[in-house]
Amino acid sequence: MQKPSTCARPPWPQLLGCALAVTLTACGGGGGGGADTSSPASATTLSGTAVDGYLQGARVLLDVNGNGLADAGEPTATTDANGRYRLDYSTLSSPIAGMRVVVTGGVDTDTGNAFTGMLTARADGAQAGQLVSPLTSLVDALVAEGFSLDAARLKVAAALGLSVADLATDPVAALASQPALYTRQAALQRAVQLLASAEQGGASAHEARERVLRQLATVIVAQSSPATVGELVARANLSQASAGRELADAVEEALNEALRSQGGRASAKASLKAMDQIRVEMESSRDYSLGRAATRLDERNGGSAYSALAGRGGKAEAINTFTRRAGTATTVSQPASTAGRLLASNCFQCHGTGGVGGFDRIRGSDAAEVRDYLRKPARSDIMAAHAQGYTSAQLDAIIAYLKQ
Ligand code: HEC
Repeated sequence: MQKPSTCARPPWPQLLGCALAVTLTACGGGGGGGADTSSPASATTLSGTAVDGYLQGARVLLDVNGNGLADAGEPTATTDANGRYRLDYSTLSSPIAGMRVVVTGGVDTDTGNAFTGMLTARADGAQAGQLVSPLTSLVDALVAEGFSLDAARLKVAAALGLSVADLATDPVAALASQPALYTRQAALQRAVQLLASAEQGGASAHEARERVLRQLATVIVAQSSPATVGELVARANLSQASAGRELADAVEEALNEALRSQGGRASAKASLKAMDQIRVEMESSRDYSLGRAATRLDERNGGSAYSALAGRGGKAEAINTFTRRAGTATTVSQPASTAGRLLASNCFQCHGTGGVGGFDRIRGSDAAEVRDYLRKPARSDIMAAHAQGYTSAQLDAIIAYLKQ
């Protein structure tokens, strides 16, 4: 924190007292969404929270020139484990109200997966409590179409049957009292990412995403009565709009059911993670059928949990299955010897960091089973393809690491 001028040269005890006083007033006066009471605002910092689930280690950019990209001299910050950031914009001479805050990268702490989307919001003059979420991204898209921030907020809230205050409410913090705020944003974000991936073609990921949000903004402007995320997505003038709707509806249904189940929040996280695997399968195969993507995951993984989660019936059992698989994988402890870890990091993409929390558990005695895949045809078995990419010495190192 910068020293305020009244604290310029006092002796130690006074300096401490002064700094503390400033901290307290800044906290009390921060206001806003209330998400960020622990980090004091100062005259030239903007603090807030980036949330889909909370995004950890994401880059937060103050997009001074409005091109959506990070340019030299534009202030950046990194989010902490609760999605919180503090942007220091003391190098800027112009007021920041109306500038875009752009969040990319990091890890979605609800799923443990890398966050491959992008979230934006407009700085509105408040120094603290700024929320950057799927809903603020939609508001930002309307601002980009020429709406004032207030008008854009009214429009987005009305289109989804929410209040303007809801748009500034941290959906994870409000999960218990307002689950729909969380489930809608999760569904919206998945649909946006799927549609952007489908739109990509020759365009950059950034351009594709902007195009998707422009189309959604058009739908929202034309919307006269509250709709679900799926209904809005279906009306977008985009090639895979109906696939986007199917995914949004399925995510929302799975999350609602998971949140109502005994597993509650843990089940919701596990289900969202599984739905993300289905979405990634749709994106990477460029086959935008939810059902076929789920079936392929079931074929690879054994069982029918993905199809049940994405489909109409039998969701409850599928939710139990994914909750059980996620099991104790909330914290990852690092084994004593990290030799082989870098080689094994490729495996973690599917099997979870440390080899737990992904498809099958591969930490411990199961690790050596990877050698079985050396005998299988790599063309038809994804694991065989992965195992055969290594030399046997490298596989030994991976197994030794995982067995610890
Ligand atoms: C693209 C995703 C992916 C990657 C990357 C991957 N796996 Fe797998 N793995 C799977 C899937 C899916 C299965 C389920 C069985 C199958 O497809 O044969 C599996 C099964 C396994 C099994 C059998 C587990 C059991 O309980 O039967 C082991 C062991 C294993 N993988 C180890 C590894 C190791 C070691 C690596 C890194 C070299 C790795 N995997 C990389 C997807 C992956």
